[in-house]
Amino acid sequence: MNEHVQTATSTPLFDPLSPEFIRNPYPHYERLRATDPIHLTQHGMYLASRHADITVVLRDKRFGKDYPERIKRRYGPDVMKEPVFRNFALTMLQQDPPDHTRLRGLVAKAFTARRVEDMRPQIQRIVDENLDRIIPQGKMDLIEDFAYRLPVTVICDMLGIPMEHREMFYTGARNSGRILEPVPMTPEEIKQSNAGQAMIKMYFDQLFDIRRKNPGDDLTTQLLHAEEAGDKLSNDELYANIILLFGAGHETTVNLIGNGLLALFRNPDQLALLKAKPELITNAIEEFLRYDSSVQMTGRVTLEDIEDLGGKPIPKGESVLCLLGSANHDPSVYPDHPERLDITRPNVKPLSFGGGIHFCLGAQLARIEAEVAINTLLRRIPDLRLDDAENPEWRPTFVLRGLKRLPASW
Ligand code: HEM
Repeated sequence: MNEHVQTATSTPLFDPLSPEFIRNPYPHYERLRATDPIHLTQHGMYLASRHADITVVLRDKRFGKDYPERIKRRYGPDVMKEPVFRNFALTMLQQDPPDHTRLRGLVAKAFTARRVEDMRPQIQRIVDENLDRIIPQGKMDLIEDFAYRLPVTVICDMLGIPMEHREMFYTGARNSGRILEPVPMTPEEIKQSNAGQAMIKMYFDQLFDIRRKNPGDDLTTQLLHAEEAGDKLSNDELYANIILLFGAGHETTVNLIGNGLLALFRNPDQLALLKAKPELITNAIEEFLRYDSSVQMTGRVTLEDIEDLGGKPIPKGESVLCLLGSANHDPSVYPDHPERLDITRPNVKPLSFGGGIHFCLGAQLARIEAEVAINTLLRRIPDLRLDDAENPEWRPTFVLRGLKRLPASW
């Protein structure tokens, strides 16, 4: 990539998959907000970095998803022949009303604040049982051994995935989330994603068979009923949305726990404060989401000509990328040192879960999982220390921001 700002510096303004950007995107966001808050990238997409503009894009009906058109502009007219894009297009995440409303309505009840609060004891049990197993070892990888297992177990429970099938999810490679990145996929990456998709589909075929024969009190059974009823959900939509729930339900939450723990251990005063006052955890989670969000960006397309977004006109049919991580550090909303971690910060309302009609369905669930995981870990292993807090290894993706591993001992 060779985008350059016409300033003293010659570093590219937006090079999201470069190791430097992945290590620490925040100085790059600061530069974008200051020099070109609606920046046209070399891939022809508009990049919004200020909180005010991003809030408009997420909430205003003149912006939508229009995924098939957006993706054709990026990859050419035949792109929807690729299973990975065809499938993604059918998820609620990429749909506009009325289909979005219909799909979201089919699962929304499972995610109400009350329903997920009722899951708290089960979440506590999962965390405790995992720690019972790990504590005698004296060391662990906080990502693989700790953060990863909780959200995968919870989403497997919600989807009714039998116990005996789970080991392959616990040990399986985490989905790279490459399809979400603003840098187009190479033909080889598309081929690999198609193959991965085919494997996952084969698994869900098995699960659908099991749940048709033995219906349960789970989301898969619920969606199978909707599909059988005929007009509410097509067979392809069934696959797409179950796969979405599985992916969205764990990758992001693993990273909330991982990024949150890293932030805490890099700020010993904040760590000590939370240990002394565990009741600060609810605000601390909002601050972790703000400080280093596990989702850094989401996109929309202009459904009509926009006269003025942050001072620029944007024609109909253009992609607008919203840098959520940048909005979360915008000093116009967080005037008191946005670059600092402060678990007592007042009025933290991060855009990490998006906004408007696509606001994250699993937000409350993710918050509760992270609350229980982090507080229980600190309580049960008070002398936990990170082996290398200075140079942790980040996963090579920008949109889903998270660590490869985070070794710790006690
Ligand atoms: C820290 C954890 C999480 C973060 C940061 C996160 C972030 C997001 C964001 C930013 C969006 C909106 C994307 C857009 O506007 O285009 C979203 C949507 C969504 N999330 Fe999450 N998410 C998290 C956890 C979860 C969990 C645990 C689940 C489910 C079990 C989940 C399921 C979904 C679904 C189904 C959507 C699509 C909603 C729609 O399009 O109406 N997420 N998430």
